[in-house]
Amino acid sequence: MKPLKIGMIGFGTVGGGVAKILLGEAERITRRAGRPIELRRVAVRDLNKARDIDLPPGVLTDRIADIVDDPEIELAVQLMGGTDPAREVMLSLLSAGKDVVTANKALLCEHGAELFAHARELGRSIAFEASVAGGIPIIANVCCALAGNQITSLSAILNGTSNFILTEMADKEESYGDVLRRAQELGYAEADPAMDVDGTDAAQKLVILTLLAFGTAVSLSQFPCTGIDSLELDDLKCADELGYVVKLLAVARLHDGKLELHVSPTLVRKHLPLADVQGAFNAVKVTGDAVGETWFSGQGAGQLPTASAVLADIIDMAVGRAQLTFKTLVLPGEGAEYEVQPIDDIVSKFYLRFNALDRPHVLADITDILGRNGISIASVVQHESPEVQNGKEPPVPVFIMTHRTTEGKMRAAEAELNRLDSLHSPCVRMSVAE
Ligand code: NAP
Ligand code: HSE
Repeated sequence: MKPLKIGMIGFGTVGGGVAKILLGEAERITRRAGRPIELRRVAVRDLNKARDIDLPPGVLTDRIADIVDDPEIELAVQLMGGTDPAREVMLSLLSAGKDVVTANKALLCEHGAELFAHARELGRSIAFEASVAGGIPIIANVCCALAGNQITSLSAILNGTSNFILTEMADKEESYGDVLRRAQELGYAEADPAMDVDGTDAAQKLVILTLLAFGTAVSLSQFPCTGIDSLELDDLKCADELGYVVKLLAVARLHDGKLELHVSPTLVRKHLPLADVQGAFNAVKVTGDAVGETWFSGQGAGQLPTASAVLADIIDMAVGRAQLTFKTLVLPGEGAEYEVQPIDDIVSKFYLRFNALDRPHVLADITDILGRNGISIASVVQHESPEVQNGKEPPVPVFIMTHRTTEGKMRAAEAELNRLDSLHSPCVRMSVAE
């Protein structure tokens, strides 16, 4: 049996997991792929870095060209992060006649349309199961298993790091910084963890799912994206008191013929399935016009869960399934695209937290601004403030839940609220799932 020779770029968290499975489970992989998979070259930035997996002699290189220019390598597995030089590398791999498997969602979010078109022109294929929701086979399900449906909505937890932080903070009352450091040690976080906690990573994955589910190319600037980085333990405790759990939710749904998209920390009712997703797990609820609601969940980040998805793509490439799937993807320009709902028109209930001075008229000022912007208040919670310490007046958290209102009204109110001298820090806002 002629082996499929592959070159892998990146030997970090995910690349290490792929090598572990390929080398350690060679017999099983050969059976599933119908032929041996030979890891011919692995490119890294720094040859002197300590690695915990031994590769056969001569495999490791610090020259990506050793993969691009090797005519025996048919398949490249692109596991370096970021967009630069990843875009150039991907274009040259495709131009050199190689199919590509990648986990890089930042790259596909920003340059997916260009890379997919380039691959199509050259008769090459790209597979990217690991780019969304780690080990959950969500790409395969959206593209293949649910292909008979018009998907009408996606509601998902797509960032393992954020979910891990929210879970650990709520359960163990650990500080945000300590849990983030642990997520980095466990290999969940991106090289720049700001992308995890500011919502960017989840938004990039939502862009990829939106392309597949709705045939529509959107950019990050077209929808609101907020992360968990301004949340405090007080927010999680207040949510709990009100009967909710906080989750970073990514939503794409058809609404009055338009595509509504957003990523935001969201209060989810305790009894709902998304509220039960713990740690680095992800979950995706996909609703289709024929199938109704479907649920997918599993580990959304980390070495072996992500390597599981990369291996599925490598095997699919070896047997020819990935090429068929790539050929039948309906890319932008090839079918009807949906108009994206303007950001200001998006409707939600909101949770607001103010760190306010405990003085006369402070609450009146807040409610006046909300009222003048047409925002109706559903509930207010303020506990008695702590004693004055060293002559300093500590701020008191004030929690407000609104009725349904628009993102536009909320943004206008926030601009005014954040100018109030009686607030210690900008107002914290979360959506409330209905
Ligand atoms: P990582 O641990 O930082 O590893 C990145 C690897 O790429 C390293 O081996 C690095 O080499 C190599 N590299 C970077 N720039 C290079 C260059 N210019 N030339 C050659 N090699 C280069 O990252 P990771 O966590 O494995 O993530 C890889 C990709 O998978 C990213 O796109 C990420 O978003 C995605 N992803 C990650 C996860 C996860 O749970 N970690 C899950 C899903 C998707 P050195 O080792 O020499 O530094
Ligand atoms: N940093 C990402 C996360 C890795 O935490 O979800 C998986 O894409």
